[in-house]
Amino acid sequence: MTTSSSSAADKNPKLKIWKKYLIIFVIIIFIVAFLSFNQQETDTFIMKTLELKGSVEDGDVLFKMNCVGCHGITARGLVGPDLHSITNRLSDIEIIKQVVQGRTPPMPSFEIDSQNMSNLLRYLHTLN
Ligand code: HEC
Repeated sequence: MTTSSSSAADKNPKLKIWKKYLIIFVIIIFIVAFLSFNQQETDTFIMKTLELKGSVEDGDVLFKMNCVGCHGITARGLVGPDLHSITNRLSDIEIIKQVVQGRTPPMPSFEIDSQNMSNLLRYLHTLN
């Protein structure tokens, strides 16, 4: 004879369904918590980047090392689009997200710190 709650749930179909809902509910909470944590991290990164004053020269070097393969040595576009006047078309926030989030394959996401991201942004602002 067993009196444990799990066997009670096994015998009572209603209780079993509720257990299922509870598990799904807990999983959803975890996913939402995880996503909002990630979002917060991205926002902090963006705020920090926007506060910094980037260096055009360092941004130029970074661009030559990481971006020319797809956007071309003069940023006139190859696989990726022409990036001249990009700062008129996209906000700084949108550009930062483009670089760090990898939402538009084949462009990869870049692991970059906020100082370097700020340098890159300053460089992109010079492409007009
Ligand atoms: C593997 C190729 C590749 C590399 C490397 C790459 N990009 Fe891209 N990039 C693309 C492609 C392709 C797109 C167009 C994506 C789309 O919107 O479909 C793009 C789009 C962009 C856009 C948005 C352009 C627009 O008109 O909306 C920006 C800004 C950009 N890239 C910046 C960069 C920067 C800065 C780097 C270097 C840190 C970089 N990319 C490296 C391929 C690449």
